[in-house]
Amino acid sequence: MKIELSKAKSDYEIILLEKDEIKTAADFKDFDFYDYKGEGLLNLSEKRRIYSAIKKRDFNAIANAAAAAIRAISKLKIKSARLCFDFKSECELKAAAQGILLGAYSYEKYKSDKKPKNLEKVLIDTNLKGAEQILANCEILSESVNFVRDIVNEIPAIYTPERMAKDALDLAKNSKVLKCEVLGESELKKEKMNAMLAVANASPHEPKLIHLSYKPKGAKLKVCFVGKGVTYDTGGLSLKPSDYMLSMKADKSGAAAALGIIKAASELGIALEIHSVLGCVENAIGSKAYKPDDVLIAKNGVSIEVRNTDAEGRLVLADSLAWAQENIKPDFIIDLATLTGACVVGVGEYTSAIMGNNYELQSDFYKAAKTSGEFFSILEFNEHLAEHIKSDIADVSNAANTRYGGALTAGLFLDKFIKDEYKDKWLHLDIAGPAFVSKAWGLNPAGGSGAGVRACVAFLESLGSK
Ligand code: BES
Ligand code: ZN
Ligand code: ZN
Repeated sequence: MKIELSKAKSDYEIILLEKDEIKTAADFKDFDFYDYKGEGLLNLSEKRRIYSAIKKRDFNAIANAAAAAIRAISKLKIKSARLCFDFKSECELKAAAQGILLGAYSYEKYKSDKKPKNLEKVLIDTNLKGAEQILANCEILSESVNFVRDIVNEIPAIYTPERMAKDALDLAKNSKVLKCEVLGESELKKEKMNAMLAVANASPHEPKLIHLSYKPKGAKLKVCFVGKGVTYDTGGLSLKPSDYMLSMKADKSGAAAALGIIKAASELGIALEIHSVLGCVENAIGSKAYKPDDVLIAKNGVSIEVRNTDAEGRLVLADSLAWAQENIKPDFIIDLATLTGACVVGVGEYTSAIMGNNYELQSDFYKAAKTSGEFFSILEFNEHLAEHIKSDIADVSNAANTRYGGALTAGLFLDKFIKDEYKDKWLHLDIAGPAFVSKAWGLNPAGGSGAGVRACVAFLESLGSK
């Protein structure tokens, strides 16, 4: 699907409409005839026109209205549609473009009866300054989000750590500006990444630490993303009940997002040095599985008492974060992970959580994320919660001894692997809620959503313009 700035004729019209515009819209002169109150969709197929109401003039309302319309006409035999709206700002144009490009996504690889993809392009006519560039950038960003959705949706039999390494290497091969290196089991052993290795132990799939880098000339800041890439989370010996295991193919969403972010940033030509470090393992069961009661010595020397093998993401991130600090020395280090069910309980399935030690940085990220269409909420650490991850026999326990505050105790666990000089430069993003959508909402169909990509790119853009 393409979006074009054009005045040409189209096969169909999508009209975004504010509630008070109904009275003046051409088709509503004879208002009694159409019992449409300006909510949701009204498809007038005989006029080749669909109305989609926007509740208010903000990013998500416009994006969602555009997404709903594009989905409603996606089965029609039309090649082009025109999106009609009087765009008053860059934000409104971005919203409509992303609504179209992200709303049109569907994952049908495993369906025999695939929907025909007739609609090739959506035309937009606007006098807004820089519209061409805005649309081109929306295409880059949306393609990256859809690339991440494809990865998250792929099944665990196919999407292994090896496969993620292949996708990362291919991404670098097809780009002039990205570089990629992959560390396998023997290298991880040399690097003493025992926490990550323990999680991978029962799986037939070799763990991989994947490092992508983008170093444009003149970059003044270095930003590193670290992603949790658990290609499947059975829970390990602390086995998940079947209802909870379902959808755990999405436990690679943090790593997938880190891949999507660096893809988008490099194609957008953002003038910052960017690194993505992906910690990829499968958390399986078997005779070689790591166990509750094991003690692991992580890369940074911190000893970890394993009390629950289902709290595996923090073990993978512990070593990946340590590796990134040592090898990359970034100005900002941001991890993304589907880390806790507690986060979903706390802030709901639509919102990601921001944690860290630097309130200003959290707040800067929050403000940038707010312009991206994604929902975020800041959760605050405190020293009382930190008491709950103390261990009797090791430096820290991987599972808290309380039922409460699980998103924060997981964040505080990660903090043990952040060196003093990075405390103020680190953000932890728990994307467990929105990364995988069980029932379509907004511009997300059911399945992988690409959570984190738009927010992190918006944050990078905000850093670039400082
Ligand atoms: N991958 C899960 C977290 C998760 C749950 C993501 C639901 C998305 C939706 C993580 O590895 C996990 O199992 N965490 C445990 C931690 C607990 C054992 C301390 C959890 O949240 O229950
Ligand atoms: Zn788990
Ligand atoms: Zn997990």
